[in-house]
Amino acid sequence: MSAASTQPPVTIQTSASTMSTTPAAPAAPAGPIFDKGLANTIAAETQMSFIDGGKGVLEYVGIEIDALARNSTYEETVYLLWNTKLPTQAELNALKSALQAEYEIPDAIYDMIKSFPKDAVPMHALRTLVSALALHDAEATSSETTPAGIESAKRQALRLVAKTPTLIANFDRHRSGKAFVRPNKSYDIATNFLWMLNGEKPTEAMSRGLDICLILHADHGLNASTFAGRVTIATLSDMYSAMTTAVGTLKGPLHGGANEEVMIMLDEIGSMDNVEPYIKGKLERKELIMGFGHRVYKAYDPRATYLKTFAKQIATDTGNIKLFEMSQKIEGIVLDAKAGKGIFPNVDFYSATTYHCLGIKTDLFTCMFAMSRMSGWAGHCIEQLQDNRLIRPQAKYNGPHEAPYVAMAQRS
Ligand SMILES: CC(C)(COP(=O)(O)OP(=O)(O)OC[C@H]1O[C@@H](n2cnc3c(N)ncnc32)[C@H](O)[C@@H]1OP(=O)(O)O)[C@@H](O)C(=O)NCCC(=O)NCCS
Repeated sequence: MSAASTQPPVTIQTSASTMSTTPAAPAAPAGPIFDKGLANTIAAETQMSFIDGGKGVLEYVGIEIDALARNSTYEETVYLLWNTKLPTQAELNALKSALQAEYEIPDAIYDMIKSFPKDAVPMHALRTLVSALALHDAEATSSETTPAGIESAKRQALRLVAKTPTLIANFDRHRSGKAFVRPNKSYDIATNFLWMLNGEKPTEAMSRGLDICLILHADHGLNASTFAGRVTIATLSDMYSAMTTAVGTLKGPLHGGANEEVMIMLDEIGSMDNVEPYIKGKLERKELIMGFGHRVYKAYDPRATYLKTFAKQIATDTGNIKLFEMSQKIEGIVLDAKAGKGIFPNVDFYSATTYHCLGIKTDLFTCMFAMSRMSGWAGHCIEQLQDNRLIRPQAKYNGPHEAPYVAMAQRS
């Protein structure tokens, strides 16, 4: 018996058209839609970020990302995402104070970091530590969709956003054989992170540079890690479990891991003379050029537009202009429809140069992304709880039916 005869007709959704496997397709699909990669499926509602991939637009609560990168701060952006409005000064001060009060992590978590191998993959360390924080939060029980449950989810979200920089910076200190640096509760998130990472107060330009990266990475619609987080919280699991799921999903090189791959590529290229043969070789071998292409943007990623300008500035200021110039040359080749692929750089491409110029080690880049995106993930999870329904798509079964159970002795 074939799978098709036992299941409702499956509609194949493509970006160009909608086709049915049955000859007489109904106007509206009667059965489930097969949409590999879910590119054409709207699976949730959000008020946080809007993306027009064709025009290259990204807005947080209606405000263009460029305006936020120029004028806002990460804390203000977090307020905006979580409350769908810009804060008054008093509201912003209250959020900053609440975050600062939660920067510190329990001693048991510092002890746990000490037990990690020094060569641990940073995203493995972060995923484990985010999960472990739940052991020290009495509110990390099953989620509830009641007003009290939502308030509890918000408090957990705030703790996670506040503590994640402490986890990342102090894991890096541990693996570098350095003593832990406790958070400074008078600093903003970007300054506090660089303070813990390097053991000295960063310059204003460095803090602002990181702050801009945090704003640009904070939310991005229903990307893979955000979706994964929403799937987890939709089962009424807790916020820490949802954030752990999201960190694990972000780690992949097709998602957040791409920024590390970009830096590795720039290191491998090494010189301007090698850009063309290296990139053309990759294209001929049909290998991916990391930091290019996007599921949603078919125009210039607006985050990359801003980061490109910023990367040039910080590369100049820190004596790394060669990195920027190599990046620009790569962009020229990949973007060229004839010589390259006609595809645009994404947020990861120029964030690699930016993080490098901020003195952040390459294998920490994806953790930096997680540090920022934690606010977007958590905001989405709160939206999910406010209008929850279990997320449970179906699989298109392609296997056999009515297969005999063959006894062990007769199996080949
Ligand atoms: C992001 C990404 C996974 C999107 O994938 P997608 O929406 O499934 O896009 P597709 O894989 O269908 O790409 C369409 C075409 O462009 C090509 N393409 C896409 N990204 C490419 C890249 N970075 N380098 C080379 N070719 C690329 C594909 O090979 C495909 O070519 P084909 O039509 O000749 O087969 C993909 O662009 C990619 O792997 N990029 C590199 C990793 C990265 O930077 N990720 C961070 C995203 S923010």
